[in-house]
Amino acid sequence: MSSPLLIRGAIVVNPDAESRTDVLCVDGRIAALGERAVKEAPAGTTTLDGTGQYLLPGGIDPHTHMQLPFMGTVTQDDFFTGTAAALAGGTTSIIDFVIPNPQQPLMDAYRTWRGWAEKAAADYAFHVAVTWWDQSVSDDMGTLVREEGVNSFKHFMAYKNAIMCDDETLVNSFKRALELGAMPTVHAENGELVYLLQAEVAKMGITGPEGHPLSRPPMVEGEAANRAIAIADVLGVPIYIVHVSCIESAEAIARARARGQRVYGEVLAGHLLIDDSVYRDPDFATAAAYVMSPPFRPKIHQEFLWRGLQSGQLHTTATDHCTFCAAQKAVGKDNFAKIPNGCGGVEERMAVLWDAGVNSGRLTPSEFVAITSANAAKLFNMYPRKGVIAEGADADLVLWDPAGTKTLSAKTQFSKNDFNIFEGRTVRGVPSHTISQGRVVFARGDLRAEAGTGRYLKRPPYGPQFDAAAKRAHDLAPTAVAR
Ligand code: URP
Ligand code: ZN
Ligand code: ZN
Ligand code: ZN
Repeated sequence: MSSPLLIRGAIVVNPDAESRTDVLCVDGRIAALGERAVKEAPAGTTTLDGTGQYLLPGGIDPHTHMQLPFMGTVTQDDFFTGTAAALAGGTTSIIDFVIPNPQQPLMDAYRTWRGWAEKAAADYAFHVAVTWWDQSVSDDMGTLVREEGVNSFKHFMAYKNAIMCDDETLVNSFKRALELGAMPTVHAENGELVYLLQAEVAKMGITGPEGHPLSRPPMVEGEAANRAIAIADVLGVPIYIVHVSCIESAEAIARARARGQRVYGEVLAGHLLIDDSVYRDPDFATAAAYVMSPPFRPKIHQEFLWRGLQSGQLHTTATDHCTFCAAQKAVGKDNFAKIPNGCGGVEERMAVLWDAGVNSGRLTPSEFVAITSANAAKLFNMYPRKGVIAEGADADLVLWDPAGTKTLSAKTQFSKNDFNIFEGRTVRGVPSHTISQGRVVFARGDLRAEAGTGRYLKRPPYGPQFDAAAKRAHDLAPTAVAR
């Protein structure tokens, strides 16, 4: 255990309020706030001066892929390098994904990922993907929820002939998730349309990365989002849509919410800031480095996504951190459909969102906290252990220097990858110190991440959304006519 830590003079930002308050961390938890923090600081307490800075809950990235085997290769960042990069950027927890191959037992895949993640330097949890269906999958979902602290299941509606779910699997899995009090989540893209369009675009003689967005237009995402939302509505289960990238799916979410449906949307930092012009870069390696799904969109979509976050129609921000280097991307030199899909960002998310969100006045500091940690903690039932600065919460904190600047680059990043999708962007507002479990793990450029110090986070089922869903189902239950 690290020595107690007292952070003095910073403006503490929570999702509901800001105030200048001292914070005492003891044994990995927040032990006291305000005057009591100073009075109760034990002998040997280290003091950190936060004057002129904000103190925020550590970031939660609810969508990463460390050490992911995908499209015939494995990502550059593993659970150590990826979580270390996260800490350098002020993110202290990630939710990664266990992705079983079709026919692979969920529990086998889960144990494999738990083994890989033992070297993590930051706390982590897992969404588990449902990629096929039979009774054993349903049973394993039960075991994962009841015994392993998994409270969310992922469904890929794209990646045909690999991990794509058909409607039968979606329906069965959503229904089972509701029974178990676990959140179904979806990657919303119509995989059949993508498959068809990839072939059609290739037939037009377009084989480079510029073919990637042509094979995945916004309505491909909109269709899948609408379908998943409709299935969830019929079954009465809440639903969370990952990486909402376009107007079509953001509108689907807003419409459903206006009808009273519990639908939640996640946006990636990349989709908020990068547009589809990157795919027309004459350099193959550069254009290919941006190949991810859903693709970057024309600028008009970015404004819509920002408004979704500002209005509360979209809830969380993530990165989908999934890093492949130039040599790995080059596998798709003659066929864009073979370029491994994925981009980084776990290290940059907090800074680019502060710079583009708070500095521009789109978001208040409290709203920033909501979309970078608190909302994810609430939706995935980790609140108030995570996502808030309060007595008893985990001492996962980031001391945020609003005047500090940094120019983002692959040359200076901690991530192992050779590319940075935010290359050359100068941001104002950076983490000066990151504190994980009460320990300073990053101090003004000095990263002190230690493999194996991250803990697996068990997340209980039946978050507040499920209690509400059960009451709703009860009140709306149909009745037979007594004759
Ligand atoms: O392109 C992406 N997003 N790669 C990772 C897998 C996924 O779809 O999230
Ligand atoms: Zn996805
Ligand atoms: Zn992903
Ligand atoms: Zn390489």
